[in-house]
Amino acid sequence: MNDPSKTSANKMAGSDHDLAKPLSPTTGLRQSLSSYGDTHFSLFLRKAFIKALGYSEDALSRPIVGIVNTSSGLNPCHANGPQLLEAAKRGVHLAGGLAVDFPTISLHESFAAPTSMFLRNLMSMDTEEMIRAQPVDSVVLIGGCDKTTPAQLMGAISANKPAIHLVTGPMMPGSHNGVRIGACTDCRNNWAKYRAGAIDIEEIAELNDELAPTAGTCGVMGTASTMACLLVALGMMPLKGATPAAVSSARLRVAEDAGTRAVFLTQNPHLTPQGILSRESFVNAITVLQAIGGSTNAVVHLLAIANRHPAVAGQINLNTIDEVGRRTPLLVDLKPSGDNYMTDFHAAGGMPALLHQLRPLLHLDALTVTGHTLGQELYLAGPVRPLAPNSPVNCIRPFDSPLYPQSSLVVLRGNLAPRGAVIKASASKDRRLLSHSGPAVVFRGTADLAQRIDSPDLTATADSVLVLQGIGPIGNPGMPEAGMVPIPRKLAVEQGVGDMLRISDGRMSGTAGGTIVLHIAPESVDPSSVLGVVEDGDMITCDVESRSLRVELTDEEIQSRILRRSQTAATAAEDTSLGGAGGSTSHWVERENMRGYRGLYMRSVNQADEGADFDFLTAAGPAGRN
Ligand code: FES
Repeated sequence: MNDPSKTSANKMAGSDHDLAKPLSPTTGLRQSLSSYGDTHFSLFLRKAFIKALGYSEDALSRPIVGIVNTSSGLNPCHANGPQLLEAAKRGVHLAGGLAVDFPTISLHESFAAPTSMFLRNLMSMDTEEMIRAQPVDSVVLIGGCDKTTPAQLMGAISANKPAIHLVTGPMMPGSHNGVRIGACTDCRNNWAKYRAGAIDIEEIAELNDELAPTAGTCGVMGTASTMACLLVALGMMPLKGATPAAVSSARLRVAEDAGTRAVFLTQNPHLTPQGILSRESFVNAITVLQAIGGSTNAVVHLLAIANRHPAVAGQINLNTIDEVGRRTPLLVDLKPSGDNYMTDFHAAGGMPALLHQLRPLLHLDALTVTGHTLGQELYLAGPVRPLAPNSPVNCIRPFDSPLYPQSSLVVLRGNLAPRGAVIKASASKDRRLLSHSGPAVVFRGTADLAQRIDSPDLTATADSVLVLQGIGPIGNPGMPEAGMVPIPRKLAVEQGVGDMLRISDGRMSGTAGGTIVLHIAPESVDPSSVLGVVEDGDMITCDVESRSLRVELTDEEIQSRILRRSQTAATAAEDTSLGGAGGSTSHWVERENMRGYRGLYMRSVNQADEGADFDFLTAAGPAGRN
């Protein structure tokens, strides 16, 4: 029998492939081998196939950097993906690595039904498994649109290979009648004006042309921009990575730099996501979240991300969000909490300038993807150059002169939300509503809402509390951004009402504003939910100062309603006639028999206070199931 170590085929395979040697399975092409029951043959076959792509032995001996490509013809937020990919590859090759790109799922907010959030966990699974399965020594994660960066970080933490984020960057603002506009705060403001009859069909069509004038993510402090800033604060992206515009040359330099740093990561394998991230990194991220008046969606994402990390899971929860908020001022004057756009934030110094202001609150010893601590990175970034006194881009307030003194994002609890709820107090348009009692006007799902909200017969006043049930993670899969319930037309048009207290178990867009309580847990379709038994006319009290959200009912009355509801829960037809899409507890019962990804989602998704992740993907695994 031939000794394979002495064959010419063995010589041809090169030193990495000396078939007489035991394989070191940890780096380069030798890792993550396909299983044929013969590891040497697996490597031999892999080399044969990769040579079909034209690589030389020299190229294949380099550290391999995978670049996760999320370009898609249905994702305009990632439309600059090809240019970023090319620049990141340049950075890898300049640093002596071999760049290979591979695709994963891409999600855009407007092109994913029922919601992109329904697919976030699928994208995280895709990301995790492709990083784990393929022979890459580190990865550059190109993402941007709202759910993509959280999905990528969740997956990267679980895969735990060295990874660096590269976001696509914000779009430029557009212009209408000489006024700057941008997705998506101005989409919502102008749509509300159109609904109220303040602008006509021609004008809303003109606005439509200018709201998203370039490639890139929404140009305000929505979820995408928030997550970009948080990636910096977490230490998973360099300081200058968050804010350059998608269409700028600076963005391409950021991409090249990400490629170079990804090669550095291959030589520092301890800098994995689990090695970098700590409780302190998450506290830094929450500090930034509060200081930028960031998206409420980021709360859900941060909880999901933290719960992927074995050493952080359980240490970051809704209480942490509120505690950090109480000591953190709102410093960044961007829509929807303020007036400006991401391009202004970038011109004002971006994340380095903000982090300098926040120094007293930050854990400066937290590690980052560069191998330096956050404090070292700030030192290396140098002092922030002061802006001219009346600079129009001056949207970062000094620490002692904030836009809002503290707690832009607040966690509420009470009998309506025993496991918590979130409100972006800084985005309230009528601050009197932050302490308010009023009678409930209840909608049992989005179909019921669409049918009745503009009815002249709707019994609602400006003091009413609009309650939307059935839009939680299970009640309306994906927990849609329907929490910004529109002001009933008759109140908006006839009385000029611009804000009302609205509560739900759903989410709202990070670009939206108003006095809106979200993410109520447990959600209304949970058989134990109090939100699920609220009825028209019940008095609801929300008090941000005392962090309280209550329905003014006795415990006996609540328990009696919950019992009554559970006795009728099996009557799905009755529920459907009452609630339409999402309002029915029948979802809770029927999920056991659902097929495919939807069935997996419905059986496995946890509640908003845990991140709406799949229980089997968390660090605790399904054993952590409630
Ligand atoms: Fe992609 Fe807003 S739709 S960031």
